[in-house]
Amino acid sequence: MLIRVSPQHPIKPSEITPESVHADRRQFLARMGLAGAGLALAGCSEAKPPQPSVSAAAGPEAALPALDVKKKTEMAGNEKLTPYDDVTHYNNYYEFGTDKADPARNAGTLRTRPWTVAIDGECEAPGQFDLDTLIKPHALEERIYRLRCVEAWSMVIPWVGFPLADLLKRFKPNSRAKFVQFYSLADAAQMPMIKRGVLPYPYREGLRIDEAMHPLAFMVVGLYGKVLPNQNGAPIRLMTPWKYGFKSAKSIVRIRFTETQPETTWNAIGAAEYGFYGNVNPEVDHPRWSQASERRLGELFRKPTLPFNGYPEVAPLYAGMDLRRYY
Ligand code: MTE
Repeated sequence: MLIRVSPQHPIKPSEITPESVHADRRQFLARMGLAGAGLALAGCSEAKPPQPSVSAAAGPEAALPALDVKKKTEMAGNEKLTPYDDVTHYNNYYEFGTDKADPARNAGTLRTRPWTVAIDGECEAPGQFDLDTLIKPHALEERIYRLRCVEAWSMVIPWVGFPLADLLKRFKPNSRAKFVQFYSLADAAQMPMIKRGVLPYPYREGLRIDEAMHPLAFMVVGLYGKVLPNQNGAPIRLMTPWKYGFKSAKSIVRIRFTETQPETTWNAIGAAEYGFYGNVNPEVDHPRWSQASERRLGELFRKPTLPFNGYPEVAPLYAGMDLRRYY
């Protein structure tokens, strides 16, 4: 069921790829003029090693308002936090460019208020909600989680948000709701790089409903105690710390409950490289590089990758599944 979305953030039907149409990766690369250059998708290829602490450029994010954080939880083994300037200047946000420095440079054009989130699909209480109204019932909490990118670098970040389950339950998913799909904003007026078509937009991600309801799955509205900078996915993004970073859709405008597994952006353009599950797994290499170790941003030596990124409490979600097949 398609619903009307506020005029500030239209999701045009033409922007929504039917789930039946899974883009063939080669066709996609050919369309982009990249056929035969499979390595050219810079964002999710193993990048050049992260540079230690990016210069402390005091961008507009320095003035972001503080959030009223009610509770703090350390969930990254007391590891050293990645400096704020690295967290906010080494980003993947293709709508603002493919270079890691592009989002911080270009995302100033994103307007994060007013912001509407549409909730629809298999639930009893769908609707469109102003973001501030949507967030208001939730006490904000800080959770220090690791973010592990599929490109084999990682960070330790104090995120601010609230459990995704608490949000989803309010819309009363019905018994057919087996998955949850997340749509990022796709507005070429605010995101000039969209026209380059590096990815099919809007950026979409998805979780199985039990993954989405797991207490670790987190809706993020801030980091380091302050409002989320645009380049990190303002005003609201997902964070599933046991999964690769590509699962954490940024600047979310729509949440849809579905009966069947929804199409997700990276999986649609390269299923052999980016699985639907995207669980961090040192034993399942990316076809073009090893996932056995990772480089923590700002550190010199690689660390071994931990299964589920060091969050073994999620393992029961996958009991009996062949994680080499469902990567
Ligand atoms: N969401 C959107 N809409 N567009 C993107 O390009 N990149 C993903 C994810 N969410 C991306 C996105 C990838 S590949 C990663 S690793 C994380 O965002 C990076 O989050 P960060 O920039 O806050 O570290």
